[in-house]
Amino acid sequence: MKVFAAVFLCVLIAHEARAQYSRCLNPNQRSGLCVHINECQTLFSVLQKFALTDLEKKFIRSSACGMGVDNRPFVCCTQDTGYTRNQRQNPSFPDYDGFGGDWEEERPNSFVFPGQVTRAFSFGNQQAGDNTVVQKPSTGDGSSLLPQPPSCGGVAIRNRIYDGQDTELNEFPWMVLLEYRRRNGNGLSTSCAGSLINQRYVLTAAHCLTGRIEREIGSLASVRLGEHDTRTAVDCPPGGGSCAPEVQRLGFEEIRVHERYSEKSTNQVHDIGLIRLERNVRYSDNIRPICLPSSVGPESRQAGEQFTVAGWGRTLKMSRSPIKQKVTVNYVDPAKCRQRFSQIKVAVESTQLCAGGQFRQDSCDGDSGGPLMRFRGDSWVLEGIVSFGYKCGLKDWPGVYTNVAAYDIWIRQNVRA
Ligand code: ARG
Repeated sequence: MKVFAAVFLCVLIAHEARAQYSRCLNPNQRSGLCVHINECQTLFSVLQKFALTDLEKKFIRSSACGMGVDNRPFVCCTQDTGYTRNQRQNPSFPDYDGFGGDWEEERPNSFVFPGQVTRAFSFGNQQAGDNTVVQKPSTGDGSSLLPQPPSCGGVAIRNRIYDGQDTELNEFPWMVLLEYRRRNGNGLSTSCAGSLINQRYVLTAAHCLTGRIEREIGSLASVRLGEHDTRTAVDCPPGGGSCAPEVQRLGFEEIRVHERYSEKSTNQVHDIGLIRLERNVRYSDNIRPICLPSSVGPESRQAGEQFTVAGWGRTLKMSRSPIKQKVTVNYVDPAKCRQRFSQIKVAVESTQLCAGGQFRQDSCDGDSGGPLMRFRGDSWVLEGIVSFGYKCGLKDWPGVYTNVAAYDIWIRQNVRA
């Protein structure tokens, strides 16, 4: 009996692993990815509403594409959060089965997509912020554009962060520094970091792209890749040896801030944004992409597990560190973190994750947008984006990070070739 149970469980898990991240069609016949419902931002948010309409219930039921071991469904995740009926245009609506029993009699002739707009800031060389353009959601899915190990997250490439230590030369080569055009006209200022996820895109925090940063520092001007020590033009290892290639500075073509990010929200939920560079970058020893969680496969996190965060932000001694710093922080149980931040009336959500809480070991001002990483198998994986905290390095006050896995679909749907 025990053997049977074990075999059954293995089959179930294998099945789950197969369903997860496979392609699927949602009830609107839009192409999506099959993920656990908790990971599907769009549908998960519908579930959290106080009362669901019948159509919403039906839409979610019809989105099923498998079942997790915890008996919660896998859903076909796209940007759609529901459907509405349209006039008969498409009498031969494609057939599919297996989902929601009462679908058959209700099958509409065609669907229109809910009025979803993507806020995109596109600016050539002008000011950010005002020229908001409304875009149709992209139907494409950027999965094929994102690298998989060993093309990402590698260490073989010669391979206040508070109380951290200097990174080695070429360590975390996906890290970029964001450069802002000072409002007072005094050239460029660096603040915030980001992570290169392929040759064209940098993932960072929304608050590094919009809001206070624009008012107080300026708008994003460029991205510096391959940086190690901001004081020196050519960075060389302290003990001698070959120096790093020069940094590359690139402008950008477009900035996309998560459409549901709001500067004013106390919990800074959806603190994520993408920068599309002006052209593809040339990879080199100091410029490489990091892996996204979905490129490596699903894996749970355990409290106490070690993650690494890196950046050029505030240290115990300086307001900015010239040399890229790193520090290890422990993953913190979400319930514990939620409880902690509720003390200051901040509601940490499941699309965020917490790490740290050990005296002095933390990310800090200026590290925002940078990566919280976990080494899995042979690759570094981007698990979180530095978002906010309560001061820095206080015992039992972990840092809060955007949970990248929760935005996998958003990322894939917002990158293009
Ligand atoms: N909001 C900060 C920034 O913009 C990041 C703060 C992270 N704080 C922390 N205690 N982990 O740079």
